[in-house]
Amino acid sequence: MRRRKASIASVYVTTVRLNSADPVSYDTDALIVGFHSGPAAAGAEGLEEAFGGKLAATLEALGFKGKAGEVAKVPTFGSIAAPLLVAVGLGDSHDLEGLRRAAGSAVRSLEGTGRAALALPVATAEEAEAVALGGLLGAYTFDRYRADKQSPIRSIDVLASFDGVAERASVLAEAVALVRDLVNTPPSDLWPARFAEIAEEIGGKAGLQVEVLDEKQLKDGGYGGLIGVGQGSANPPRLVRLSYTHPEAAKTLAFVGKGITFDSGGLSIKPTSAMEWMKSDMGGAGAVFGAMVAIARLGLKVNAVGYLCLAENLPSGTAQRPSDVIHSYSGKTVEVLDTDAEGRLVLMDGIARAAEDGPDLIVDVATLTGAQIVALGWRTAGVMANDDEVRELVVEAAAAAGEGAWGMPLPEELRKGLDSPVADIANLQPERWGSMLAAGVFLKEFVPDGVKWAHIDMAGPAFNKGEPYGYIPKGGTGAFVRTLIGLAERHASGAGK
Ligand code: BES
Ligand code: MN
Ligand code: ZN
Repeated sequence: MRRRKASIASVYVTTVRLNSADPVSYDTDALIVGFHSGPAAAGAEGLEEAFGGKLAATLEALGFKGKAGEVAKVPTFGSIAAPLLVAVGLGDSHDLEGLRRAAGSAVRSLEGTGRAALALPVATAEEAEAVALGGLLGAYTFDRYRADKQSPIRSIDVLASFDGVAERASVLAEAVALVRDLVNTPPSDLWPARFAEIAEEIGGKAGLQVEVLDEKQLKDGGYGGLIGVGQGSANPPRLVRLSYTHPEAAKTLAFVGKGITFDSGGLSIKPTSAMEWMKSDMGGAGAVFGAMVAIARLGLKVNAVGYLCLAENLPSGTAQRPSDVIHSYSGKTVEVLDTDAEGRLVLMDGIARAAEDGPDLIVDVATLTGAQIVALGWRTAGVMANDDEVRELVVEAAAAAGEGAWGMPLPEELRKGLDSPVADIANLQPERWGSMLAAGVFLKEFVPDGVKWAHIDMAGPAFNKGEPYGYIPKGGTGAFVRTLIGLAERHASGAGK
């Protein structure tokens, strides 16, 4: 079969610059101004005067209250240089995430406009970065398969002046966009070998060392989980290892991502409604890939390895069956009671392999269980770890990035439910209660003693089935790329940033 190769995010369309110019006289298509509740203008001096004292009354007439996420557009009729003023609400007070979201909402509302300038209250480089990043993330669109192309804002100016901020925000935004593109790409254009090729291409360009194990090497190497999950598909599995080293690094981090390019459930097949968005089941591998690219581009003083555990989970005459026993890379045998609990099977091999790199910390990221969504909803990932400090560090890094995450336990008593009469462990507990935690308890069995490990279950946050909000579009969100980059920064030598 001949296959067309879709190009993936090689060109990012929106650029950002910082410029400490006067908002009132700034030449742009739309001036975005932040307002606190009331509404009270925040960050743009002289605006009310420029409008002859009538801006506040106009916003009031429009019903604009300055609530977080609120956007109102006002034609300026020559009062200021920009033809359009966009008022965006910041609520009563705002933190970094409030700035990211406000910038994202405002830029997202300007689809079809060429240039925008953001005049939000910015006093520090961190705040300027939040505005730049929120704006860039809000400008994301995915129209590769549509005839009616969208025209997001192409150029964003943040009206503030700090060195290096535009570059850093661009690297972060491009990493997120790369993951969103990969998640949004249909499985007909993204199968394991294709993902591996993209990793070689884009990872190589970023300066990463990239190694790919094909199905023969996986079989010979004893990766029973990847082989078992992938054997039902005509598109065989791959394990991609990305590595980045810095001569001044003191720490080594290992990231392991679940990369199921499509999860039908296998012979334990899913109903259609649960299957239609399972192209997003490679979001964990996407996050690891995006983070590795960004870490290299930022030149962080840390060593990092990233594993992409890639397979397509399909039913067929060659698919694995419920009750099959597979030999994992760690040497432990696993009874596959449910072929839809496949993520843990590819991750167990990735985690055991990652441990051989002697990392100070292993973090796996996965769209692992529907139970995560039951427990924590769409926007909050569950974080589990074999070390309390490590778990808190991951939760803190996520909070700093504005990504929802909450610490969860790994109750010892759940291990018994994974006992198998024929193998060392089963991939499913007999009851559904606590399934997110049971999946974590399963993975923990494949982390060698003495190795620190954290597990992020982001089944909900990886994909937005609802309407866009803040800087989050519909579809692939790029969740946890920025948290992983933040973790690398926290392990970098010296200032690191
Ligand atoms: N990829 C799914 C989990 C998932 C569900 C991700 C919804 C995103 C949204 C995973 O492979 C899966 O099928 N998990 C099963 C596990 C069960 C069989 C133990 C689940 O959660 O139902
Ligand atoms: Mn599944
Ligand atoms: Zn899955």
